[in-house]
Amino acid sequence: MSATPQLLAISDLHVGHEENRPIVDGLRPDHPGDWLIVAGDVAENVADIEATLSLLKSRFDTVIWVPGNHELWTTSKDAVQLKGVERYEHLVQICRGLGVLTPEDEFPVWTGAGGPVRIAPLFVLYDYTFRIDGVNTKEESLAAAHEAGIVCTDEYMLHPDPYPSIDAWCDARVKESERRLAECDPSVPLVLVNHWPLVRQPTRVLRYPVFAQWCGTVQSADWHTRFNTAAVVYGHLHIPRHTVYDGVPFKEVSLGYPREWKPRGLPDKLLRPVLPVRVAP
Ligand SMILES: [Fe+2]
Ligand SMILES: [Fe+2]
Repeated sequence: MSATPQLLAISDLHVGHEENRPIVDGLRPDHPGDWLIVAGDVAENVADIEATLSLLKSRFDTVIWVPGNHELWTTSKDAVQLKGVERYEHLVQICRGLGVLTPEDEFPVWTGAGGPVRIAPLFVLYDYTFRIDGVNTKEESLAAAHEAGIVCTDEYMLHPDPYPSIDAWCDARVKESERRLAECDPSVPLVLVNHWPLVRQPTRVLRYPVFAQWCGTVQSADWHTRFNTAAVVYGHLHIPRHTVYDGVPFKEVSLGYPREWKPRGLPDKLLRPVLPVRVAP
């Protein structure tokens, strides 16, 4: 057991993959006061999402969830056929029933080790602006992806209803997120949490550069410097790593698919500490 509670994070549990289930079953706090950030892509089926978040809430003091693209997919196998905003709002209601915090709740303040920090769960989506060189519009970007044969399944499963497009939904989420962040007391540093990376740089290592258009928006590029930010937590890329941009730590905290984690093996600590814990000399 750790000596003090910690603020921990994970993402991309993808429990629809049979081999990920025992891993998720094994996620336990080191200390009864640990908080857990779940940065999206728990599963596609609402029943799987609810069961997983319920399990985690039964173990961790506080659980904070943001949606990934997979939660927002409407698949033929799911008993819940809601699309777009209605689907998101249904998931938020489920979280409220479980006592799990979402981007629609007041941002909680972590006062344990490394704190105080205000945790801002965000739901910002993407808008096809992370484009490859020589491509200037969404239409050109999608055409380049189709030509390369690299098209995100979101194009078929993630519906923007009632918005006309994902980028229109993203624009609305950007405005709402900026409004919420601007309202925060600037003297308390923020931990920004979003499924998709808030800056472009992490997508530069994608195997297929054209895939970046489904990974974020240039509209959030300066949030980590515009707002007082202690750390940024994200997932989606399935490339777990720790980088620093403009002096701010960014943590990709994904588990990912079995075909991805099996070859490299799982890290000793799947639940990544978000904040540095200073040990008294
Ligand atoms: Fe994922
Ligand atoms: Fe994702």
